[in-house]
Amino acid sequence: MKILMASSEAVPYAKTGGLADAVSALSLALAKLGHEVRIVIPRYYSVDRSKLRQLEGAMGVPMGGGEEWSAVYTTSLPGSPKKTPVQVYFIDHENFFGRDGIYGTPSEPDFLDNPRRFAFFSKAVFQLCRKIGWYPDILHAHDWPAALVPVYLKFGERREGFSQTASVLTVHNLGYQGIYSRDNYYFTGLGWNTFYNAGFEDWNMMNLLKAGLYSADKLNTVSPNYAEETKIQAHGFRLDGVLRYRSADYSGILNGIDSGIWNPAKDPHIPAPYSAKDLSGKAKAKEALRKEFGLPPGPESSAGAGSRASPPEVPVIGMVTRLVGQKGVGELFGPGYGSAFSICRDMNVQLVLLGSGEGWCEHEVMNLSSRLSNFKARIGYSEKLSHLIEAGSDFFLMPSQYEPCGLNQMYSLAYGTLPIVRNTGGLADTVEKFNQETGTGTGFVFDDLTPSAIYNTVGWAVWAYYNRRPQIEAMRLAGMKQNFSWENSAKKYMEIYEGLVKN
Ligand code: ADP
Ligand code: GLC
Repeated sequence: MKILMASSEAVPYAKTGGLADAVSALSLALAKLGHEVRIVIPRYYSVDRSKLRQLEGAMGVPMGGGEEWSAVYTTSLPGSPKKTPVQVYFIDHENFFGRDGIYGTPSEPDFLDNPRRFAFFSKAVFQLCRKIGWYPDILHAHDWPAALVPVYLKFGERREGFSQTASVLTVHNLGYQGIYSRDNYYFTGLGWNTFYNAGFEDWNMMNLLKAGLYSADKLNTVSPNYAEETKIQAHGFRLDGVLRYRSADYSGILNGIDSGIWNPAKDPHIPAPYSAKDLSGKAKAKEALRKEFGLPPGPESSAGAGSRASPPEVPVIGMVTRLVGQKGVGELFGPGYGSAFSICRDMNVQLVLLGSGEGWCEHEVMNLSSRLSNFKARIGYSEKLSHLIEAGSDFFLMPSQYEPCGLNQMYSLAYGTLPIVRNTGGLADTVEKFNQETGTGTGFVFDDLTPSAIYNTVGWAVWAYYNRRPQIEAMRLAGMKQNFSWENSAKKYMEIYEGLVKN
């Protein structure tokens, strides 16, 4: 089958979060099943053109207000299977994408011309196919920046090469919808009747994701539980009605994890490899992590995690996150409100954090870490450090307000690091709550998003660490045995695609 992924992010080229991981990993998994998969993303400033091949000739993209011209670059995705490599295309337009930032910069988090930039990108997807003479069976769009792709297909492009093409729209995060002034509608080049027919209208604004949800042939999100949650008002970000209306075509498919990148047995970013059979490398990672963050070292005799002869090791709790409300950072770091301070003050733990995001939160995190000797933080983005935190921590804290899937808790499980998570979205689908009677479970789960619920649950995990060590060790192993392969997920996407092609 021929599948074209349209996305604003894909690793290793452009990433702000899990969307980038998911798009590339899903593409590779589908290619490994023998399908012809291609990806199209914008050519941002950060993507080095000298490493790409330029297609001959310029490409015209008709939009409202005239034609825009772009160049197209291409390369094959690293890790591609030899027989069916995943080809990546980059739409190059200096005016729209030749700047720092994917969606914005710290001083301008949402570029004013984003509706125009992503309308251009979505339209360019069709021109690209014409240019290379390759028409997909499935156009698979991801999130609001590509949500116009199914709209264009349904309202105009389903002809000639695209007459048999079907569309799928995956929602990675319903909290981001691309809502802009309707003045921008002009740039889509679509008529005003389509504004209403396609469902763009949103309280006199233009909602790109909403139009995509009405227009795509099939919809899905990235975990079964989030698919159910988003159909109710509390989690639907005002689109629950649309999702209920489309519920026959809407499902949840859990993301996988890329075991080529997230695997403690062959991770180049950690000091020593380890596996469920021998966890000694995990203790080395813990020491390296402490050293990296300037935390005092543990007792020297601790030969391996769980060695009972040595004096008890202080548990390390890790976090790698975007510092935004979705991730529960208000309940952790809100000044005078959050629980991080009292956790570090009251408990014999060490807390490390890597993240970036909202200014108030970055500021508060640095402020707290200067006042607490057992809380260390790094503001910024570091692939290497994120691996070391996953490997070197005993627990991974993810108190999300909502979580469509969440990748970090799955990485944690693979690395023998016990997740402490809220019972929501994909977190609920992937982490089984510790039962201290039977010793079963893979992590610590709580229901309410309140500072005290986070405090109590971290306290429970720390108590278990000191008092139920054999159960902690058994949980680590249970987590490491979980199979979150992309192959399983890719097969479920194939079922959707096949259903569409047969019709
Ligand atoms: P989301 O996409 O909502 O941010 P996910 O858990 O799905 O949440 O994915 C987050 C991804 O981004 C993970 O791969 C995580 O390791 C990575 N990540 C987030 N912040 C950072 C950071 N500061 N440095 C390195 N990686 C980060
Ligand atoms: C989004 C979600 C996250 C999910 C990721 C990949 O960024 O916030 O939960 O794992 O997309 O699908």
